[in-house]
Amino acid sequence: MAEAILPNVPRHVAIIMDGNGRWARARGLPRTMGHKKGVEAVREVVRTAGDIGISYLTLFAFSSENWRRPEAEVSDLMGLLKAFIRRDLADLHRENVRIRVIGEREHLRSDILPLLLEAEETTRNNTALTLVIAFNYGSRDEMARALRKIGEKIRDGYLTPDMVTPELIDAHLDTAGMPDPDLIIRTSGEERLSNFLLWQAAYSELVFVPEFWPDFDRPLFMATLEKFAGRERRFGGLAASSVLAGE
Ligand code: FPP
Repeated sequence: MAEAILPNVPRHVAIIMDGNGRWARARGLPRTMGHKKGVEAVREVVRTAGDIGISYLTLFAFSSENWRRPEAEVSDLMGLLKAFIRRDLADLHRENVRIRVIGEREHLRSDILPLLLEAEETTRNNTALTLVIAFNYGSRDEMARALRKIGEKIRDGYLTPDMVTPELIDAHLDTAGMPDPDLIIRTSGEERLSNFLLWQAAYSELVFVPEFWPDFDRPLFMATLEKFAGRERRFGGLAASSVLAGE
């Protein structure tokens, strides 16, 4: 495949899929049509990520703050996610995609949690792309839950405070065992992280694209990856050019 020659393929890409509502409004359609088209964009991006050898693709599907939306829209988004898992799980499994879900699970409705667990369980041994669905996810909530778990272990004598390191915190986050995102993309022109992977984004490259999520197709994804490939990542060190010049 021509895209396989893309230089510098990121190992982990995370996406804030924004602009479904505005996409619909611009066409005089109900917001629900924007979300529906958004699911089609999800399919195309997942396929593309698999084709070009990305290892982890994290999609912000529903934030812990999204419950504040009108009930009809919340139920619409739930319906779309459920339909996606029901309809696409078999295909994703066949394509060797592993599904992982991050976010708070304890308070999830009984009609959604079993589906998410089934998707994880069915695909747990798959070895191609890992599709991470951030659902009922908020970064501060994730960190608070991690710190609570660590606190309990300290209280119960399994850990001491001096054992709390960045690596230990990492291991208690929902993303435990996953590499940090190399690239975080947000569509629709908004330029903020909105409580998404705040800890994990420490050294991520951020790319903001003006297009609304339903328009985020394969060529646009490829163009965004090319932009990433042109960036120099320093992780707090020096630019390679400065090192070569002996500066
Ligand atoms: C942002 O658009 C998008 C969302 C809140 C949800 C994203 C969900 C999907 C694309 C569908 C389900 C997901 C999967 C993984 C199958 P917005 O409504 O905030 O748009 P606006 O800012 O223009 O109003």
